[in-house]
Amino acid sequence: MAEINKQIKRIGVLTSGGDAPGMNAAIRAVVRACTYYGIEVYGIRRGYRGLLDGDMKEMNARSVSDIIYRGGTILQTARCHTFRSHEGIVQGKKMAEVFGLDALVVIGGDGSFNGALAISKEGLPVIGIPGTIDNDIGCTDYTIGYDTAMNTVRDAIDKIKDTASSHERCSFVEVMGRNAGYIAMNCAIAGGAEVCLIPERPFSLESDVVKKIIECRNRGKHHYVVIVAEGVGGTMELAAKVKDITGIETTATILGHIQRGGSPTVKDRVVAGLMGVKAVQCLTHGEINKIIAFKGEKCVAVDMEEGLKTPKHLDEDMLLANEILNV
Ligand code: F6P
Repeated sequence: MAEINKQIKRIGVLTSGGDAPGMNAAIRAVVRACTYYGIEVYGIRRGYRGLLDGDMKEMNARSVSDIIYRGGTILQTARCHTFRSHEGIVQGKKMAEVFGLDALVVIGGDGSFNGALAISKEGLPVIGIPGTIDNDIGCTDYTIGYDTAMNTVRDAIDKIKDTASSHERCSFVEVMGRNAGYIAMNCAIAGGAEVCLIPERPFSLESDVVKKIIECRNRGKHHYVVIVAEGVGGTMELAAKVKDITGIETTATILGHIQRGGSPTVKDRVVAGLMGVKAVQCLTHGEINKIIAFKGEKCVAVDMEEGLKTPKHLDEDMLLANEILNV
């Protein structure tokens, strides 16, 4: 177990990569837990970019008032290319020294944690809080933002279904998730979709899409929803091909960044609160270089290097459930 003896007196907190609803709740939790444990905390703006620029200032319990319900991140975020190089990491470590930071709390996805791991190897202790709508980090069951994004998708599917049923159309809906199909798979079940295409599962247009839609029509259905994960892509072309082959009118909707915004759900606020507190508690106990994972409704600290190697397995039961439910 990675540990330090040095007492943590001052830390930096940043959000990095794509924003996610609940990141503000996580920042709030880190800042307030620091206040509780008598640790100074600096908010670093624009992720690792801000660390390299020394763009940070001290925060206190009041700096995070009235943010728990807001989407986005008050610290702002960025995808920083310089931080992917060794020179960038060394520069980041130097800037942390300039500001007297004893540790860094990084709220973000696996790309952001790779940066955190690299700076930890230069001697700056880190803790990662998983924040991404994609829920694609292997060592944790849950990432902050996932529930809110899925509720946004569910709401969009419900609305699209209203109009699809009036016009007897087949609606293709593309959802985010980068290379992962978790948002797609859950929202297919929640939205009662006839077909769900995810990058983890190769598919055939003829047997997995066209044949299924025709079978549904033969069973008396008059409208159909096809969820396409972003990692599959080509949603417009798929919709056009299905129209050509079946003669059924199709529409294609790419939900895009609407999925990243909005007020976080209860689940995202609660998990963010628990993870933020656990992150600071780890530092007070001398536990460093960890990812705060959510396992069985509890926060646990997982070694960051090991955690980043953990593969995420697809839930086969969910795929089967969708097959059974969409008859
Ligand atoms: O990782 C979150 C995410 O929204 C992915 O689902 C998506 O592929 C990507 O970020 C989009 O990133 P950007 O906002 O930089 O276009």
